[in-house]
Amino acid sequence: MLSGKRIILGVTGGIAAYKAVFLLREFQKAGAEVRVVMTPAATRFVGIETFTSLTRYDVAVDVFSGDQPGQSWTKHVHMGEWADLYVIAPCTANTLAKIVQGASDNMLTTTVLTARCPILICPTMDGEMYESPAVSENLDKVRKMGYYIQEPESGYLASGLEAKGRLPEPETILQRADTIIKEHAIQGPLTGKKVVVTAGPTREYIDPVRFISNPSSGKMGIAMAEAARALGGDVLLLHGPISIQIPERIQSIPFVSAEELFGLMKTHVDANVVIMAAAVSDFSAEEKTDKKVKKDQASLSLKLKRTPDTLQWLGENKKKGQLLIGFAMETEDLIQNAKSKLEKKNLDWICANSIQDEDSGFDSDTNKITLLGKNSEEYFEGTKEKIAIEILEKIFP
Ligand code: CTP
Repeated sequence: MLSGKRIILGVTGGIAAYKAVFLLREFQKAGAEVRVVMTPAATRFVGIETFTSLTRYDVAVDVFSGDQPGQSWTKHVHMGEWADLYVIAPCTANTLAKIVQGASDNMLTTTVLTARCPILICPTMDGEMYESPAVSENLDKVRKMGYYIQEPESGYLASGLEAKGRLPEPETILQRADTIIKEHAIQGPLTGKKVVVTAGPTREYIDPVRFISNPSSGKMGIAMAEAARALGGDVLLLHGPISIQIPERIQSIPFVSAEELFGLMKTHVDANVVIMAAAVSDFSAEEKTDKKVKKDQASLSLKLKRTPDTLQWLGENKKKGQLLIGFAMETEDLIQNAKSKLEKKNLDWICANSIQDEDSGFDSDTNKITLLGKNSEEYFEGTKEKIAIEILEKIFP
């Protein structure tokens, strides 16, 4: 249901905090990637380690994480940009009041302010508190602010009383989360489509300190990933070793060698669209040594072997309705060579990229691309971001 979706689970200090552990498991079982933020009070009900172990990520509690080493991720206000949905469950009356006030005294409340994604608040407290005028008024206020509220259920509460205030069952929250995420999905020609984009170079190690690679920066691939997302796609970026920042909102998996990329792509053959912008090495060392090669010889010959051609393999195993978009890096006979790759690799489109021209190709911020389809040819130039959008708008009108 929530496959590939990214959820921040905010846990506040109420007795129902223990139920957030089960909720987290259900989110994960539904295919979501979850990261947890807790208020300091929540850590008195459930140990940070419980969530750390289950998510394999540091749990964010304090805005100042100096006393909690290794929490680099928690420092990022990008957390709210990363997520598709922020669910606060349980949400105490105290945190609700802070949200109304715009307080940012801990990581959970700060993330409410930085979140670009929708926020679902699950107020959970004792019946009397829930019915109190202040809580009712605060609930009205957060609704007006555009936050979603999942009303608590009636039943037996920790106080021993029967009243409205229980955290709803995980299925109810999951269903609501799914509906909200769908409501907020960007509507475009790629909505509901899984788009896998590759970017950057590969590295083929010869020994532990040397490798064969190329100057690809990954800029064009990231621009394609951003453009696919802007058109509504569920984007997964597979990237080689690059130094530029990948936007938090793009889901990504790193690879190093052509072989690794091939293996990764095979696990994502269900993609509706594949955009192969990675500059993949065609050769790797036939033998890789575990120890550094010493210069105790006058010359050295390297024997290379072919790496798997991921795009060729995708073309040969193309699924019905799947669309393959390749890139062609050429120094000569650009159009002719790109056309033959389009055919040979069974592609739908190919972006012919001259690396001879100024202001184009490797590491440049701008590019010059001729997009070739089976019966069409169109030229694009400008910043990589601009032409990435133009190319995808041409392919997906
Ligand atoms: N590609 C790939 N696996 C490889 C080599 C290339 O998947 N081992 C993909 C690239 O990502 C690109 C397309 O194939 O989308 C064309 O890559 P390019 O380097 O231009 O051409 P090659 O197929 O490698 O052919 P040549 O090097 O002979 O030009």
